[in-house]
Amino acid sequence: MLKNSRSTYAEINIDNYLHNLEYISKKTNTEVMPVLKADAYGHNKITLAKCAVKEGYKRFAVAFLEEALDLINNDIKKPILIFNYINPKSLKRYTYFSDFLIPTIHSLNNLKTLISELGEEINKFKFHLNFNTGINRIGIQENEIENIIAIIKNKNINIEGIYSHYATADSLDDYVDYQYNNFLRIIKIFKDREIEYKFKHMSNSAACLYYPERSLDIVRPGIASFGLQPSNIKKDENIKPVMELKSIVAKINTCKKGDTIGYGRTHIIDKNSKTAIIPIGYADGYPRILSNKSHVLIKNKLYKVIGNVSMDQIVIEIKDDDIMVGDEVILFGKKPSAEHLANLANTLNYEITCGVSSRVPRVFIKGGSYFE
Ligand SMILES: Cc1ncc(COP(=O)(O)O)c(C=O)c1O
Repeated sequence: MLKNSRSTYAEINIDNYLHNLEYISKKTNTEVMPVLKADAYGHNKITLAKCAVKEGYKRFAVAFLEEALDLINNDIKKPILIFNYINPKSLKRYTYFSDFLIPTIHSLNNLKTLISELGEEINKFKFHLNFNTGINRIGIQENEIENIIAIIKNKNINIEGIYSHYATADSLDDYVDYQYNNFLRIIKIFKDREIEYKFKHMSNSAACLYYPERSLDIVRPGIASFGLQPSNIKKDENIKPVMELKSIVAKINTCKKGDTIGYGRTHIIDKNSKTAIIPIGYADGYPRILSNKSHVLIKNKLYKVIGNVSMDQIVIEIKDDDIMVGDEVILFGKKPSAEHLANLANTLNYEITCGVSSRVPRVFIKGGSYFE
């Protein structure tokens, strides 16, 4: 499929995305709020949100205000929970979108500045409260709870949900229990103080897959919805990768023993052989650290990347195989997996798909047909 002059693109499989959402929903028996931050981890949030809305998904989550505005301005008129910090002055400019913008309150100071900036208009918004139960990033501290509750009651702040976030659900360790129990304690405080709200939630992908019985009222999967494993420890074979990064063979070289490949001459050809040049590089998000390490798939066979990954090209060794200019090359997808590349690059699969740059067009496939 020719999507740019060099035929490099990320194929986004919508059927797999919807399959993963449905699988998570059945596994947890809980409403799924798809997480679409960072352009849906590189998959294109607007297209995925539109497809998910058609399937009945009612709310989404992103990290920042601008990401929510982008969805709303593209006609996704659904409640969008914003996890991260919003300058209250910026929020005030969008009061007219208060049906869709669901901000998080993440500290006592944050609540106070929201009140002073928004004035009476604060009552137009519904908020979720994020509690720090042990990840120690953004989130209300336990010693702030009483003050927060007093202000919420006093100012009639509309609380739609309360939530927290795991630090180690992917490690399946005891800290998960510690955080979950901390959150249960906070839930009890809210019950005792008779604060009404609709949703309590804590589950990221790892928690959805490994602790489905703790799903509470909504779950917030990101990585697993894209068919990527939340953990190297325990694989769930039911989820299907959504992104395949593809290119083609642009040139074939015949090399002789002693020839060197690419910048820095980090690979020396040890016997006469053919190489293929693929028009993709680190500027597209194919990490340079994969130089001389990773493999690509051509006609169902893996070929090693040799030499340094350049900004726009990589070289693979094809020996005497029957490979031609124009043959399809899979950089990652089902095989090799994003997890495999991430392990080689000493990072996470999250960073592999988030890193696919805007220079790479996203092409969508649903029911066997392509659309853009
Ligand atoms: C608050 C919150 N919930 C849910 C998620 C989704 O996490 P995951 O991609 O591991 O499912 C994230 C992502 O980091 C997050 O910050």
